[in-house]
Amino acid sequence: MPFVQARATTSLFRGAAVTRLSSRGYCAFSYSLRRFLPRTSSSSSSSSSSSSPLRHRNLCSAFGPATGISERNMASSSAAAKRLEGKTILITGASSGIGRSTAREFARTNPNGNLRLIIAARRADSLEELAAEIRKETNGGVKVLPVKLDVSKADEIRGFVNGLPEEWRDIHVLVNNAGLVKGVAKAPEIDEQDMNIVFTTNVTGLINMTQAILPIFLKRPNGGQGDIINIGSIAGREPYPGGSVYCASKAAVRSFTESLRKELIATRIRVIEIDPGQVETEFSIVRFYGDKAKADAVYAGYDPLTPDDIAEIVVFTATRRENVVVAESLLYPNHQASALIMHRRTN
Ligand SMILES: NC(=O)c1ccc[n+]([C@@H]2O[C@H](COP(=O)([O-])OP(=O)(O)OC[C@H]3O[C@@H](n4cnc5c(N)ncnc54)[C@H](OP(=O)(O)O)[C@@H]3O)[C@@H](O)[C@H]2O)c1
Repeated sequence: MPFVQARATTSLFRGAAVTRLSSRGYCAFSYSLRRFLPRTSSSSSSSSSSSSPLRHRNLCSAFGPATGISERNMASSSAAAKRLEGKTILITGASSGIGRSTAREFARTNPNGNLRLIIAARRADSLEELAAEIRKETNGGVKVLPVKLDVSKADEIRGFVNGLPEEWRDIHVLVNNAGLVKGVAKAPEIDEQDMNIVFTTNVTGLINMTQAILPIFLKRPNGGQGDIINIGSIAGREPYPGGSVYCASKAAVRSFTESLRKELIATRIRVIEIDPGQVETEFSIVRFYGDKAKADAVYAGYDPLTPDDIAEIVVFTATRRENVVVAESLLYPNHQASALIMHRRTN
């Protein structure tokens, strides 16, 4: 489905946020005013209708301008778009899941702002498809450069920046998203090749990418400027059996990210970590070596996060005022409270 259509269903990000708040009853203004409104048959006859999401939304939109709610909302939305203007954003692992959604979300946030997206992964066909989709949906307003890149290969990363056309080298945001897990084996049964793939992708790949891009950031005035957004995981905070190598790799991402933030304290470079819980992507298909049935079973009975949920947070962190660093965030779906504490529906 073209992403603009998907966008329309959730409305613009801030609009969607307001709708979500009002539907949860957080529109405090509507609550206080509700008491003074004439009681209509629908509002007086049933508590369910008076507390319906639609009614709250109507109240919010009816009274928003007077309270400044809508104006503030629009202002912060356009501020986010403005902060992206003219920027070049590099996303690794953009051929699928969170990376792909992140590319789309950046494009949606400023479709006409001279934004450049470098999307990288090993699957060139998927990248070309995504690039074509974004160009079409933004009428060419967002420029997209797909680049085939295997982050586990240090020599590919070494030649990466110089291999970009000149006008694409002034990168402002690096989203280190490429990552994977292989298998659920426990020691001493862990396959050596799987172990190496996970570490060279999730850890040395991420560190090498960071080292390749950081000099670009450091050349900017006042000590340097740019955003490094690392996708970690709940696994990096809370190791679980059957995930030791993956958990260790994400714990390494967490340590590297924290050290980096401290090392760059005298610059304007923001170092950001986003740690998702359960998100339904190709992640589990890769974990189970392409066995879709096993992957589907991981999510049965749950409402996992979607890659779009994480993409919203990635773009949110990159579009804060420059002095604001969303240093870290942990994101769960509603049913999850730790790596292993999850509520599975039985019906
Ligand atoms: N899904 C979850 O539940 C979850 C939870 C917490 C954290 N995460 C993290 O989120 C990130 C994105 O994963 P996802 O859930 O979106 O999974 P996904 O759908 O499988 O996407 C993974 C992406 O990483 C890319 N990738 C893998 N190895 C690569 C390599 N050597 N070089 C370049 N790109 C590579 C893949 O592209 P190619 O195959 O085309 O190279 C793909 O685009 C990962 O870091 C993952 O650890 C996921």
